[in-house]
Amino acid sequence: MSDQDNRNDTRATGSTMSTGAPAVSDRNSLSIGPDGPVLLHDVHFLEQMAHFNREKVPERQPHAKGAGAFGVFETTEDVSTYTKAALFQKGASTEMLARFSTVAGEMGSPDTWRDVRGFSLKFYTSEGNYDLVGNNTPVFFVRDPMKFPHFIRSQKRLPDSGLRDNHMQWDFWTNNPETAHQVTYLMGVRGLPRTWRHMNGYGSHTYMWVNAKGEKFWVKYHFHTEQGMEFFSNQEAADMAGADADFHRRDLFDAIARGEHPSWILSVQVMPYDEAKTYRLNPFDLTKTWPHADYPLVRVGKMTLNRNPENFFAQIEQAAFSPGNTVPGIGLSPDKMLLGRAFAYNDAQRNRIGTNFHQLPVNQPKVPVNTYMFDGHMAYHHSGNAPVYAPNSHDRKWADETGPVADGWEADGTMVRSAYTLRKDDDDFSQPGILVRDVFNDEERAALVDQVAGSLLGGVREPVLSRALDYWKSIDAGVGARIEEKVRKGGAAKPAEGMGEG
Ligand code: HEM
Repeated sequence: MSDQDNRNDTRATGSTMSTGAPAVSDRNSLSIGPDGPVLLHDVHFLEQMAHFNREKVPERQPHAKGAGAFGVFETTEDVSTYTKAALFQKGASTEMLARFSTVAGEMGSPDTWRDVRGFSLKFYTSEGNYDLVGNNTPVFFVRDPMKFPHFIRSQKRLPDSGLRDNHMQWDFWTNNPETAHQVTYLMGVRGLPRTWRHMNGYGSHTYMWVNAKGEKFWVKYHFHTEQGMEFFSNQEAADMAGADADFHRRDLFDAIARGEHPSWILSVQVMPYDEAKTYRLNPFDLTKTWPHADYPLVRVGKMTLNRNPENFFAQIEQAAFSPGNTVPGIGLSPDKMLLGRAFAYNDAQRNRIGTNFHQLPVNQPKVPVNTYMFDGHMAYHHSGNAPVYAPNSHDRKWADETGPVADGWEADGTMVRSAYTLRKDDDDFSQPGILVRDVFNDEERAALVDQVAGSLLGGVREPVLSRALDYWKSIDAGVGARIEEKVRKGGAAKPAEGMGEG
């Protein structure tokens, strides 16, 4: 024991136990003599040890690594023709929380590994919390929720070695050709955003908006960064992964601390309700975008992040977002993925955080709650002695809507297990082909060829390799041929770590 430990330190003005009673020492445990054994009745010591054993919660599965900030959403335009939601009425200003993340990496993984980025938003509206849990790309890898756990596992780690594995990733992607659009985004520049401030966000799914007259519309959300889109090259991303694994987290926190408040403009594409029935693409297929020529952007407002969390664990790690959290004027859609997600998130959070995760300050709505969800671990808010059942003969209100629902849609009555019905222009390769040919410039196309070839050379074996080459030739014959040539010569550059690299 050093002298230091035996001196009274003037900095120690006194901590307490969790009971509020004075804690005796945060430095020395109670022992029999300075060199003797520690004692079981040192309650403060035991409490510290026991709580420490429990101070982590399971990381999110997926989207474990991320960070976020608070801010405000201001509706600057009149979109009341499309929705009655209070937060989207012109002039409304709504407090909000954003969390950005990578998908496949674990809690300590580098921010700059190649991956899709999460873009989660929670709006504390005057009608309850509204969550929009999207990504930095407008599409996704699969369109049936049954495939989601398989997809995530294929992007994570091998069962034996615990290593990431390109072969497994490409095996999944090429066995599910609907992944082509999102894989093209991932292998392109959007797979390496320079910072979270320099990327766009998308709701990705089609959602429903309902106006005050009860008229319904289908919408897609686009958040365009006002900082401009910027990307890392493979080399820059790899260097940064080594130099500062928390680069994106640090960048956002430091920018806000400096008073540079990042902002995004929200626009929506709006499809009249009935047009969904006959549109040439299935408008609920999450692997497709709606061409802007058919459905142009309608501006809604602006989101600004202006306040860092005071405590990362309480406000970011324990934040709980769910695409199922909607408010009047906003609904879901027949997108099967979205319907699967409406279950998954709250259930994950009951497991990850606890039964009453919704009672934590960061997840609490700013409006009064009258829920019949009762008791459970860590119940804090309660309804006193009010009836715990509905209907009741006392004065506790309950809900009792019947008949057609305001945000409902027609469904055919036959129960089946089936992929979506294909429409005239529905195929898996046309839209990624347009992305490669018409959206990427020469430099971006060359980088894509390098990235894919490098990834395939990183351990992808037959028959997956040949299938991957066919996959790219189906997206674009020229790009496919260039990838094949590089792979056959074995001369591709080393790709960035992360998805597409083992
Ligand atoms: C059926 C498909 C999907 C399922 C079952 C699913 C499930 C999950 C689960 C269980 C979590 C962890 C939640 C938590 O612990 O708090 C999560 C996180 C997340 N997912 Fe999904 N997901 C699906 C598809 C998607 C899609 C299509 C997107 C984007 C368009 C997306 C974006 C996110 C984001 C951004 C997070 C992180 C949320 C946060 O910041 O806390 N997911 N997902």
